[in-house]
Amino acid sequence: MNIVGIETSCDETSVAVLSGAHILSSFTFSQADIHAVFGGVVPEVASRNHMQKIAPLFRKAMAHAGLDLQDIDLIAVTSAPGLIGALFVGVSFAKGLAFAMDKPIIPIHHLAGHILSAELSNPELKPPYTALVVSGGHTHIYDVTEENGQQPSFRLIGRTIDDAAGEAFDKVAKMLGGQYPGGPFIEKLAMDGDSQSIKFPIALRGEQNLSFSGLKTAVLTKIEQHTHEAKDIAASFQYTVAKTVQEKAFAAAKAAGRNKIVVTGGVSCNGALRRHFAQAVEAEGLQVYFPEIQLCNDNAAMIAYAAYRMTQNTDIAEYKDLSFAAGDTRHEIDVA
Ligand code: KG4
Ligand code: ZN
Repeated sequence: MNIVGIETSCDETSVAVLSGAHILSSFTFSQADIHAVFGGVVPEVASRNHMQKIAPLFRKAMAHAGLDLQDIDLIAVTSAPGLIGALFVGVSFAKGLAFAMDKPIIPIHHLAGHILSAELSNPELKPPYTALVVSGGHTHIYDVTEENGQQPSFRLIGRTIDDAAGEAFDKVAKMLGGQYPGGPFIEKLAMDGDSQSIKFPIALRGEQNLSFSGLKTAVLTKIEQHTHEAKDIAASFQYTVAKTVQEKAFAAAKAAGRNKIVVTGGVSCNGALRRHFAQAVEAEGLQVYFPEIQLCNDNAAMIAYAAYRMTQNTDIAEYKDLSFAAGDTRHEIDVA
C-alpha cells in the first residue's frame, strides 16, 4: 500500500511517501531560520511558507519515490493539533489531491504520528508501551495498547500543566542569548557544562502531571544572580528536564505494568536526554525506544506511518469523507 503523508502543523513543511512501513521518500523544509529573526514561530509567516513549499515538495517526494499519482492508495494528513492556518494549507492540499484523484484520505492526529514514529525506527516495537511525547507544543504521557492486531489506542496518563518541555528549552535559550529553536542551542552550550552544578527542583514529584514553568523561573533567577557560567546553567537545566520526564515516564510505565517506554518529539533529539534514559532503564529492567534523529522533529513520514497503522485491518476504501476540517481527527487522542 502506497501512502502519501503531508505535515504542515507548525513550521515544518513535509511530504513523505511510504510503501507500507517502508519509507520511499521523505522531504522536509524547515522554516526555523525564517522564524528565528522573530524569536519564535509567526503563524501567518508559517502558513505563507507552507503555501509556497507544499507543491514542489510533493512533486519531489513523488519523483524520488518513483511513483505516479495513480499509484497512491491513501493520503494521510495532519489535521490537528497545530497552528490552524498552517494546518489549513496541508489539509486543503491533501483534500485537493484526494478529490481530484478520487483517493481515500485520513486525517491524522499529530501526536499519534510522533508516538508511532518510534515503531518506524524500531520495527520489532509493538504496543503495549508507555509513550512520552516531548515536543515544542506538548509534554504528554500515554498508555498505548492494541487489541489483536487492531489499531493502536492512546490513553492519556499525564501532561504538563503549563509549559511543554521544548517550550522550556526555547525560553531558557532566549534567556541565555540563543536563537529559536532553543533545544539545539542549549544542548551545544551544555556540552562543556557541569549538569550537577545547580540543583534545580523537580516539580510535582509523585504526581502524574508535569510542570516546567517553575524551572524556567528558577533558571532566570540563577542567571540574574551571576553566580554560575551559562554552560553550567544550561547543563543543569537540561539534566533537570531529562530527569523530570524520565521519572514521570517510569512511574507511568510501572503503574500500567509496561516494560517498554517510547520517547518521541523534538526534544527526544537531545543526546543528554537519550543517554539519561539509557542509563536509567538499565537499572530498572525497562527498555527505551526512540525514533531515529530525522524522525524526532516534525515530519510527514510519521504521519504516513500513523495512517498505515490506524488503517490496519480496515477497508481503506471507506475513507472517502472529505468533510473534515483542520482541527478534526478521525482517531481521537485525548490531549486535555
Ligand atoms: O516535535 P517538534 O519538531 O515540533 C512540535 O510538534 O512542537 O518539536 C520542536 C521542539 C522545539 O521546542 C525545539 O527547541 C525542541 O523540539 N528541540 C530540542 C532539540 N531539538 C529540537 N530540544 C532539546 N534538545 C534538542 N537537541
Ligand atoms: Zn511535533
